[in-house]
Amino acid sequence: MPTVVPGTDIRTSRIGFGTASLHHLFSRRHRLALLDEALSGGITHFDTSPFYGFGLAEQDLGAFLQGRRDRVTLATKIGLYPLGPAAGSAAGVWARKAGGRIVPALSHPVGDWSPARARRSLDHSLRRLRTDHVDLLLVHEPPASLIGDSSLHDWLEGERRAGRIRAHGIAGTADRCAPLVAAGDPLARMVQTADRLDRRDADFLTDAGRDLQITYGYLKAMIDGDAERTLRAALDRNAQGIVLVSTRSRERLRSLARIAA
Ligand SMILES: NC(=O)c1ccc[n+]([C@@H]2O[C@H](COP(=O)([O-])OP(=O)(O)OC[C@H]3O[C@@H](n4cnc5c(N)ncnc54)[C@H](OP(=O)(O)O)[C@@H]3O)[C@@H](O)[C@H]2O)c1
Repeated sequence: MPTVVPGTDIRTSRIGFGTASLHHLFSRRHRLALLDEALSGGITHFDTSPFYGFGLAEQDLGAFLQGRRDRVTLATKIGLYPLGPAAGSAAGVWARKAGGRIVPALSHPVGDWSPARARRSLDHSLRRLRTDHVDLLLVHEPPASLIGDSSLHDWLEGERRAGRIRAHGIAGTADRCAPLVAAGDPLARMVQTADRLDRRDADFLTDAGRDLQITYGYLKAMIDGDAERTLRAALDRNAQGIVLVSTRSRERLRSLARIAA
């Protein structure tokens, strides 16, 4: 069943597919087949970032979405970037991660939330994603220093008016997102945040009188090994928004997608 994400005009599936671990599949053919499994199963929202797979996730999504762009909603991010150029293959991602064990800066994200860097990043993301717009551009793990600084918000609004993004918001853990929500900062009108069934990390939103919009992290934190029960409970908790999931397995994805359908 489709939904309209509360507070937005984004109409899409109740489950979204997250691409942070897509590069765990070494073969590009397998990665594209996994994306195809998601869409065939009725999942029409895809979440990515220039940091995921050091750019490889956006490249794979761009290849997959050729001829299908109008069937999906697409979210990518600004704020956290890989060091150096985008990786061209999963082998390249793993090599960089291996190097990062010796020199951590090679694989750690570089944080830069300036509008100038965000503009360059959006240019590159659109090129990798082979599209002229994204449905949602999210400020990745926003620092509290953004509160009250209107420059990033002004730039985002300009991009929205220009049609390169349909909506924008923030994305990250409760400790990063809650201060912006509490301050009523305009960047935080749309929030994608980590949540768990046991800890209810996203309660900072309901405590502030807000609906859950996009949440993730439920399967990673499941305690009883029952993914389908966990996803059902997550969809009950985030009753109108999107629950992001990820898996390397087409079979697992098929049974998760069936729950939302
Ligand atoms: N700051 C942000 O905005 C932010 C941060 C984190 C994540 N995200 C987004 O949210 C997406 C999902 O995040 P997440 O990694 O926390 O996802 P998740 O869906 O909660 O957890 C994924 C983990 O669950 C396992 N899993 C999936 N289905 C399963 C099943 N049926 N049975 C047993 N295990 C299962 C996967 O292992 P297998 O692969 O082995 O199945 C994987 O280790 C990310 O890809 C990313 O797009 C956004």
